[in-house]
Amino acid sequence: MKKHFGESVPLRRVGAAQVAWVLALGIASQPVSAENADTIRQYQFAPATSGYQLVLKEVPRPEAGTGEVLVRIKAVSLNRRDLNMLHNDYGGEDAYSGGIPLSDGAGEVIDVGENVTRFKVGDRVAGIFFERWIEGPPSAGSLESDRGGNPGGMLSEIIVTHEDGLVAVPEHLSYEEAATLPCAALTAWVGLFKRGHLQAGQYVLLEGTGGVSVFGLIFAVATGARPIITSSRDEKLRRAMELGAFGTANYRKNPDWQIQVRELTGGHGVDQVLDVGGRDTLGKALEALAYGGHIALIGGLSGYGSDLPTDSLMWINATASGVYVGSRADFEAMNAFISEHRIRPPIDRVFEFEQARDAFDYMESGGFVGKIVIRM
Ligand SMILES: NC(=O)c1ccc[n+]([C@@H]2O[C@H](COP(=O)([O-])OP(=O)(O)OC[C@H]3O[C@@H](n4cnc5c(N)ncnc54)[C@H](OP(=O)(O)O)[C@@H]3O)[C@@H](O)[C@H]2O)c1
Repeated sequence: MKKHFGESVPLRRVGAAQVAWVLALGIASQPVSAENADTIRQYQFAPATSGYQLVLKEVPRPEAGTGEVLVRIKAVSLNRRDLNMLHNDYGGEDAYSGGIPLSDGAGEVIDVGENVTRFKVGDRVAGIFFERWIEGPPSAGSLESDRGGNPGGMLSEIIVTHEDGLVAVPEHLSYEEAATLPCAALTAWVGLFKRGHLQAGQYVLLEGTGGVSVFGLIFAVATGARPIITSSRDEKLRRAMELGAFGTANYRKNPDWQIQVRELTGGHGVDQVLDVGGRDTLGKALEALAYGGHIALIGGLSGYGSDLPTDSLMWINATASGVYVGSRADFEAMNAFISEHRIRPPIDRVFEFEQARDAFDYMESGGFVGKIVIRM
């Protein structure tokens, strides 16, 4: 059992049959593969002294079978989970060898197999995080279909996937922007709207200035809510104010940041929390929570295993709910919201395909606000 974002779910392993078509033909040195070339380039995880390394491979071009769609990936984005996979933080021996990194990507449909009805050549699409979670609550089976570190990963010039595993992307977004949506944006959206029922005027607490939190910030701003965001660095808090934050707190300078957050609300407390910090933040977030507030349990940047003081939750009639990204239906609902509000995803920096390792290093450095993208 592997832990992705704290939940224990079985990881889909790279099976022998699936490996067959990714048999490496050698390390590629060519620029972007020609439109109809027999081979394409993709990165794969390969064992390293500690965790994994990214290796660039040239592999046979996939074909669209019945019900499948071929997508030329134009851009991908990184999430903390991808770095965790690189470091093998989720445990498991050699779980990702030969797997394709990254859950998030967007591109253009270039071929469709028989019986495909949802898409046609030329459509602009993004992969959904769980290839088989379409709507309603998840099942053990749908949660096994998470992309990244397996054949469903996106760091590949072309991918083949079932037509059900894609959504159309909002027209006003570039491919780089659309590539940021599948994981971080959807997690923030589900936490705030589907679970939290965010309303205009409410106070929202966001922890740190990474992907989930900055999407939470811009969704809250679009709703007319009042986002308060924390960071370890003042320059990042200044950027958050430019993005529309109502208030900020430096959690490194002020270890009791939850008191500052409550003061920023005039004593009311925050109505919504996207808790991505985990062990070190959850208890403090609860101290900052308003009567009837909601905490979305999302991440473990400081580790998992926090003891949630359930009596405190009870006394203030609050709710806490676990969020594990979302379904395709959730993604489509979020896209409608993004289109309606003409939201532009918060991209910090765009790397080229050949610089994929630099993109991972940049995430490791912690010097970013929002999302890191790789253009293909
Ligand atoms: N449950 C789900 O479905 C789901 C989905 C997506 C992500 N996640 C989880 O949510 C977390 C965030 O993911 P992400 O992709 O948004 O990460 P990310 O983009 O890498 O964001 C990392 C940022 O978080 C801040 N941070 C680091 N440690 C912190 C701490 N102890 N307390 C508060 N802030 C801290 C830092 O910002 P500053 O420099 O500004 O302090 C850091 O730059 C991860 O644990 C990830 O695994 C869960």
